[in-house]
Amino acid sequence: MVVLSKPIAAVAVFISFVSAQSFQRLGSCPDLGCIIPPDQADFLAGQRFDIRLEVHAPVNGSEATGNPNPDENFSFTIERVGGHRGVLSGSKWFKVAEPKLEKWTFGWFEDYFARDAKTPSIVNVASKAYRKVYLDEAGEYKATLTYNGKTTTATWNVRNLEEVRKTRNVLFFIGDGMTTNMITAARLIGHKSKNGKYLSKMAMDTFPVLGHAMTHSIDSFITDSANSATALYTGHKSTVNALGVYVDSSPNVFDDPKVESIAELFYRIYRGHVGIVSTAAVADATPAALTSHTRDRGQAPYCVDSFLHGTPNYTWVDWNGPDVLFGGGAEQFYPPSLGGKTYLGKDYYQEFSNAGYGVYLNKTSLLNAPNTDRALGIFSVSHMSKWLDRNVYKNNLKAQSNHPSGNKGDAEDQPGLKEMTLKAIDILHTRAKADPRHSSQGWFLMSEAASIDKMMHVLDYDRALGELLELDDTIKASIEKLKALGELSNTLIVVTADHGHGFDVMGSVDTKYLVEQPEDRKKRSAVGVYEQSGLSGYQNSGDLTYTDGSHFPSNWTPRYALFAGLATSPDRRENYKLHENGPRLPATNTPGRPSNDYYANDKDSIGGFVVNGTLPTDQAQGVHSLTDVPVFAMGPCQELFGGVQNNIDIFFNMANCLGLSRTAHGKGQDPIGN
Ligand SMILES: *[C@@H]1O[C@H](CO)[C@@H](O)[C@H](O)[C@H]1NC(C)=O
Ligand SMILES: *[C@@H]1O[C@H](CO)[C@@H](O)[C@H](O)[C@H]1NC(C)=O
Ligand SMILES: *[C@@H]1O[C@H](CO)[C@@H](O)[C@H](O)[C@H]1NC(C)=O
Ligand SMILES: *[C@@H]1O[C@H](CO)[C@@H](O)[C@H](O)[C@H]1NC(C)=O
Ligand SMILES: *[C@@H]1O[C@H](CO)[C@@H](O)[C@H](O)[C@H]1NC(C)=O
Ligand SMILES: [Zn+2]
Repeated sequence: MVVLSKPIAAVAVFISFVSAQSFQRLGSCPDLGCIIPPDQADFLAGQRFDIRLEVHAPVNGSEATGNPNPDENFSFTIERVGGHRGVLSGSKWFKVAEPKLEKWTFGWFEDYFARDAKTPSIVNVASKAYRKVYLDEAGEYKATLTYNGKTTTATWNVRNLEEVRKTRNVLFFIGDGMTTNMITAARLIGHKSKNGKYLSKMAMDTFPVLGHAMTHSIDSFITDSANSATALYTGHKSTVNALGVYVDSSPNVFDDPKVESIAELFYRIYRGHVGIVSTAAVADATPAALTSHTRDRGQAPYCVDSFLHGTPNYTWVDWNGPDVLFGGGAEQFYPPSLGGKTYLGKDYYQEFSNAGYGVYLNKTSLLNAPNTDRALGIFSVSHMSKWLDRNVYKNNLKAQSNHPSGNKGDAEDQPGLKEMTLKAIDILHTRAKADPRHSSQGWFLMSEAASIDKMMHVLDYDRALGELLELDDTIKASIEKLKALGELSNTLIVVTADHGHGFDVMGSVDTKYLVEQPEDRKKRSAVGVYEQSGLSGYQNSGDLTYTDGSHFPSNWTPRYALFAGLATSPDRRENYKLHENGPRLPATNTPGRPSNDYYANDKDSIGGFVVNGTLPTDQAQGVHSLTDVPVFAMGPCQELFGGVQNNIDIFFNMANCLGLSRTAHGKGQDPIGN
């Protein structure tokens, strides 16, 4: 008997270690008392945030204590280390009323066996939330939750940043899913080389400062675009699928503890002008995270409302809508009578129009829009068409039923990232300049090349690299535009990614030889590695010419194509040829297989060979990977962005450069003249 207790204790320790892996009770909360923001969180001085306290009483499962009632009399204190205020209760520290007690119950799976057996572990929760508080003295804080005679401590760090503003504008490019490997491949197909030397450079190659950023999320080392956007925009790590919040365990997806975004800070402090541009649906995670606060990125109708109204039913921070919002995702705008899925069934073209926005549904009208007015540009249902289809395989724009009006026509007149970004700069520049407080306002523009990621997911490397070259072309054109406007030296330009995909190029493929081999194993001998990779065939013959200095392949379908792939994929067929009929569909559910089982699509890559994947068979697409991502910087504060950093540092550096830190002692000066 005595002997038994030891192995049981050892097993308990082992289980709690294992439970921190695939499934977690609550990612930011390893013990039964939870302080959110959790231990190690960094804050910008003055940044608004919510605090969520939770006391967990596991009813069953490996953590059950025999007492299913959470301590409702928990207490919470805050202290600034070395400060003069001492240890104060949360309500005294923030000078707010004691929040009311909330209670709920949730369940979670401890591992895949529990998931398969549908045996969740049940947890009762007692909780309180302090809303919209802030810390305004730099330094280290100790937050302590005491419950059942136990304590959980969180160390918080309010970064000590100068309050001097060093840039008027920030132009923030996000290549969604973009890695250094993809940039290298894009350079290879988009630029000519001679005897091992490139004759031209990517615009990114010309940036003076290069760093790289770690992307892991709070409770998983692989991120998605939601929590990574949250990190980039708020300086707070979060959980997969969460936008502008930390994740709590309550059932309501809108009550999770919020953190103020750079767009909200910039507007609240300077009434700065904000622009949001994406080639995705605008409700997609990367654009939405600038204004949305929900742990569920799937709340697309709410995300669209948040652009206009901030967070509904809750006074969060001042917000008055961006000056510019361009992208796809019309189905969250046109009303349900046309098949739309909108917040509370409203017509969001009408809502934006009522709020003073010009509404533009095609490239022609966008380019003719006045630069003096706020503008909403929605150019397609769902994500926008890809560069390759808009510019080379234009027939693929037909029969899409994606017209942004909801009339089931085709969106054949879509702008690209470049047109949207240049127009956004024109509008932001014009409006900021017309403002009486010009010098202290300036603008913040986020421009996202979303479909690098979307096309990597479907293993459509040609389209992904086309999107990346379009991003680079946009960067180049934006620099020229800023120069022409006299704003280049007043603008910090940062280019980064939110996460990677395990993409690389390992050689070339003789696509002609491959399809003519009768057997799958023989087809693989069409792959040329090392010296047989040869040189890029993408610049050899000229079916396309770019007289404006843009760099794209002149031949997208050379016989010797890239031998490219991902570190892991679903089952698929490969012939390494460009998918001329539109974005690729590598794996499908085929007759005779369970509905969640995906196998190589027999209509994809005809003549190629089948490659079995290593992902779970319910994954129809490629997935994100661990890699650090590149960070390029140019302009005021560029030196802050060099070296190895965390993705949250990108937020702190941009906020620092914009002078958004507000300590109790700071004056919040604005040194930029004229
Ligand atoms: C909480 O504390 C109050 C007095 O401080 C006490 O009356 C009450 O029974 C306690 N509740 C629980 C659930 O322990
Ligand atoms: C915990 O209890 C619930 C409800 O009684 C039950 O459905 C679940 O399977 C139990 N979980 C475990 C891990 O025993
Ligand atoms: C806001 O309140 C309205 C009316 O009560 C409700 O229909 C809506 O779902 C709420 N929105 C959110 C995001 O909670
Ligand atoms: C673009 O939009 C304008 C304004 O709605 C419309 O008049 C025009 O016909 C549209 N052009 C195209 C090519 O769809
Ligand atoms: C791929 O996996 C299937 C089973 O899912 C198997 O029948 C087939 O032989 C495999 N193909 C290759 C090329 O390994
Ligand atoms: Zn992705």
